[in-house]
Formats: sequence, structure tokens, C-alpha cells
Amino acid sequence: MTITIDGVDGIGEIQPGDDLAQIIAAKAPWLRDGDILVVTSKIVSKAEDRFTDADREDAIDAETVDVVARKGRTRIVRNALGLVLAAAGVDTSNVPGGRSLLLPKDPDASARRLRADIRVHLGVDVAIVITDTMGRAWRTGQIDTAIGLAGLPAIRDLRGTTDDHGAPLDVTMPAIADELAGAGDLVKSKTTRLPIAVVRGFDIAPGEDGPGATAMIREQNEDLFHLGAAEARQLGRREAIHARRTVREFRDEPVPSADIAAAVAAAVTAPAPHHSTPWRFVHVTRHRRALLEAMRHAWIRDLRSDGFSDAQIDKRISRGDILWRAPEIVVPGVVRDAAHPYPDARRAQAERDMFTVAAGAGIENFLIALAGRGLGSAWISSTMFCPGVVREALDLDDDFEPLGTVAIGYARSEPPQRPPRDANDYLLHR
Ligand SMILES: Cc1cc2nc3c(=O)[nH]c(=O)nc-3n(C[C@H](O)[C@H](O)[C@H](O)COP(=O)(O)O)c2cc1C
Repeated sequence: MTITIDGVDGIGEIQPGDDLAQIIAAKAPWLRDGDILVVTSKIVSKAEDRFTDADREDAIDAETVDVVARKGRTRIVRNALGLVLAAAGVDTSNVPGGRSLLLPKDPDASARRLRADIRVHLGVDVAIVITDTMGRAWRTGQIDTAIGLAGLPAIRDLRGTTDDHGAPLDVTMPAIADELAGAGDLVKSKTTRLPIAVVRGFDIAPGEDGPGATAMIREQNEDLFHLGAAEARQLGRREAIHARRTVREFRDEPVPSADIAAAVAAAVTAPAPHHSTPWRFVHVTRHRRALLEAMRHAWIRDLRSDGFSDAQIDKRISRGDILWRAPEIVVPGVVRDAAHPYPDARRAQAERDMFTVAAGAGIENFLIALAGRGLGSAWISSTMFCPGVVREALDLDDDFEPLGTVAIGYARSEPPQRPPRDANDYLLHR
């Protein structure tokens, strides 16, 4: 296959309302069936009077559906067409009078119109690629890509065919519209005032108008990179707290100890009184059976003294099964050695509470950090009701006060979504 790429000379400055097809027909009467016109979107925008007097930043705001990435004053945004572009494609270069130029409103429709009009003027069947210049993630330099298309498929789908060696091609889908846009730009570079290139000799003959360049826009939920790195981190931070839900059924899959250690490291960044570090986390492994059996006996003793029957006790006790079943358990606790002594009960209790809430903040951090690593957890209260038994079973000092047990593992299924709670139900203003 031999391809030629020629510029169309003498297009001149396009004015709002100009008939592009007529101008092209006058300057390129040599167009033939099968030619592909690669047209810079700027002249299409000018002909369609997409000028705006709005301040550039306001124009970008108006064109922006969401911000994908931001660095300094540069914004990479998704516009209403689904295109991801620097500055939403708002252009101030080569635009007279300090105005801004927006992209064509519907570049695929513009391409279809131009194709039909050229057919009327010259009686030839061409394909149209409308281009805009874009940067690429991971690569320096810009390239022209197709934002509007008529008469060609955007993509040559080679999936299901085989390569020269007979190996099946599973993912090969050359984006021919973008390749043609890039090829056209080799000739119609901005500096030489050639806004149109004609590609001749391509092996796909123009056919139906087709779905246009829109076909190349990847669905956001299929796009691994639909946000910039900083924006993805910011979103992750915002959603981290919501990622934690109590998980009571776990998969039979080992939990990496490093993840538990990392979650403890995150936990102990919680705020605490007097610059103290009152958090302790006991990863219970070889003493698990001894601990859970000792706790079970203590609980049965408590329930007997409450007057429960054996059947009632059995029923109650079975609720503690989660700590037997969970892949890992951690007993979080508080040490109050940094608490200030007070002679009166009121302040002594407040000081106690202060350390308890600080420890609770650390435990919540722990659970959120686990969730951030994909680990489910359930904070189970039982050790709080038998601290002496826990200390003895785990050989812990007297100053360790257990604050429950955290069952840890990979969730068997996604916990159900909790209906959102309205802040106003919990937020008072005085
Ligand atoms: C201090 C504390 C003790 C808890 N004790 C238990 C418990 O003994 N058994 C249990 O199933 N869940 C226990 N939970 C978990 C709550 O039941 C759970 O947080 C609640 O159902 C809300 O669900 P969510 O964590 O998914 O938002 C406890 C939670 C806290 C904060």
C-alpha cells in the first residue's frame, strides 16, 4: 500500500459562516473518490462561529464536565463530548482579537455535514477526519487525534483474526482515525498554515458515515486511568472512611502479617492526650484457642449468675463464633500510664475517658487502614467484659486494658451498602 499525504494550499483565514466545503472544493478540485480529508478542528470551529468573548478560565469552566487532573494553572478536563483535553480544548492561539475558540459543538456531525457538502460540490465520496491536538499521559509531545469522523470506522477491529504466525489477536484494535489524524499533521503543521491534508491510497474505502470518533471514547468505568494520580489519591482519601464496614463472614484466605503491621502503624497516628501513645495491639496467633476458651468460660459464668438456662446460654455463646472463624484476630487495648492523677472522682473519670476515646480513635484508624488494604474487620466487644481473663490468657501486664477484639479477613461478600446518613441529624449548631 502506498499512501500519499498532500496539503491543501490557500485555505486562508476562515470566517464565521464560511462554507468550508465550497472553499475546499475551490482549492482542491483534484479531490477523488476515496480520499480522506484530515481537517484541523480550528477551521471548523471558526466556520461554525464557536468564538467566545468569555474570559479564558470562564470558558474552560463552561466546557468542563469534570476535572481529570490539575497541575498549577493547567487543567486536564473531560468535556461534554467525553473528550479529555488540556483546557477543555479552549483555544486562544491563532485566534484574532484576543477571543477564545471552543471546539465544534458536535465534531462528528460537523464531519458528516462537510462530507455531504463536498459530495454536492465536487461529486466525490471522501471521508472526513476532524482533528485536535492533544498531549498524552506518560509521553511528552503532542499528537493530532480524531475528534470528529465520517465515512470511516474509527477503529480497525482485528480481534479474532490471527497474526502472520497464526497466533490469535485478542486485543489488537488500531485506532485508525487517530493514526490518520497524526499522519495528516505531518503535512498540515500549524506553522505552515495548512489546516487540511488529504490522505490518498488508504486501504479502507469510505463507506457509511459510521458512528464517528465518539466510538473511541472509552467508558469511564472501563478506563484504568480515568483520573489523574493526584485526583485519584484525593478521592481515595475522601472515600477511605466509607470503605470500612463491619464484616462478619470471611473467605478462607490468609491475611498478610505485613498488612496487619501496616494498619497498626496507621492506627498509632491517632490523636492522643498529653502527646502520649496509649494504643496497644495484640496480634493473637498461638494463644487464640486458650484466649477464646477462657473467655467462653468467663462468659458462661456471667450468664449463669444472670440466671440464664443452659439452652439460652448455648444460644448466646454461639454469637462469639466469629472470633473462632476469622482468619486473624487482634486484641486492641489501652495503657493509661501517661494519664494525670486527680484527687477527685470527676476529673479522674474525665482523664480515664480521655484515654479511652483516644484508644477508640486508634482502633477506628486500624479498621480503616485494614479496609484500605482490602481487608474486612469486625470490632467485637467481648474482651472488654473480662479484662483479667484476657491478660492472663495472653500473658499481658496489668496496665493493658483490652478494648474488644478485631476479627480480620477478606470479606466473603461485599457488605451491603448503608443508606447515607444525613449530617443534619447529628450536627448541632449553637
Ligand atoms: C466498641 C464496639 C463494640 C462492638 N461490639 C460488637 C460485637 O460484640 N459484636 C458485633 O457483631 N459487632 C460489634 N460491633 C460492631 C457494630 O455492630 C457495627 O459497627 C454496627 O453494626 C454498624 O455496622 P458498620 O460497622 O458496618 O457500620 C462493635 C462496635 C464497636 C464500636
